[in-house]
Amino acid sequence: MKRLEQLYEGKAKKVFLTDNPDVVVVSYKDDATAFNGIKKGQIKDKGIVNNVCSNHLFKLLESKGIPTHLVEQINERETYVKKVQIVPLEVIVRNIAAGSMSKRLGIPEGKVLPVAVVEFSYKNDDLGDPLINDDHALAMELATPEEIAQIKAMALKVNSVLSEYFAEIGVTLVDFKLEFGRYKDGIVLADEISPDTCRFWDKKTGEKLDKDRFRRDLDDVDKGYREIKKRMGLE
Ligand code: TMP
Repeated sequence: MKRLEQLYEGKAKKVFLTDNPDVVVVSYKDDATAFNGIKKGQIKDKGIVNNVCSNHLFKLLESKGIPTHLVEQINERETYVKKVQIVPLEVIVRNIAAGSMSKRLGIPEGKVLPVAVVEFSYKNDDLGDPLINDDHALAMELATPEEIAQIKAMALKVNSVLSEYFAEIGVTLVDFKLEFGRYKDGIVLADEISPDTCRFWDKKTGEKLDKDRFRRDLDDVDKGYREIKKRMGLE
């Protein structure tokens, strides 16, 4: 496949067209932002970690019957993925209260939730990705009722596969964000699953091994990225 012009540049990735209309190249950057782009920085080798970790997890999920956008990794920072139409929802799954859920609802960080919670945010930077419910998503025609049902079921399946996988490598999967895309009449898992988009806590010590080190100005910002890649056996 031949790479053509850049289609899009986001906060953490660039996307290029290819000579195959169904495939694009995703190129992961080391740039990091938080709070809707207000805090900016760079995290050493983040793009490499996110690319290889995400591809590893997408392969695992495919093997468990979850369709994803993954086609083939090109190099340590770049991957061929299916050209999907992104459903404008950020789908968050929570096993333990943390972050915005703790802030909004007054639940202490670290409280294990008796059931997994699926949240939707409307993917819109100008509005700050506001939390919405299923009815808002339908009323705004962001997705059909069938797509919403499928997305929720897929998000919960991803949660059970990944919670088990990370537990085995000594990591608690606290919460994570997924995005889905439409591809040839179906819904596939898209975007990435990485320390940028998950909260990972060391199972023994509770240490944060994810982007919260950057968001919260903790020391050794790239530690979580390095450690997760290592525990996943990717070096
Ligand atoms: P939150 O507690 O800040 O709402 O974050 C929930 C999860 O979603 C957490 O694992 C981090 C991830 N996340 C993203 O991937 N992108 C975002 O823009 C935000 C705000 C959170």
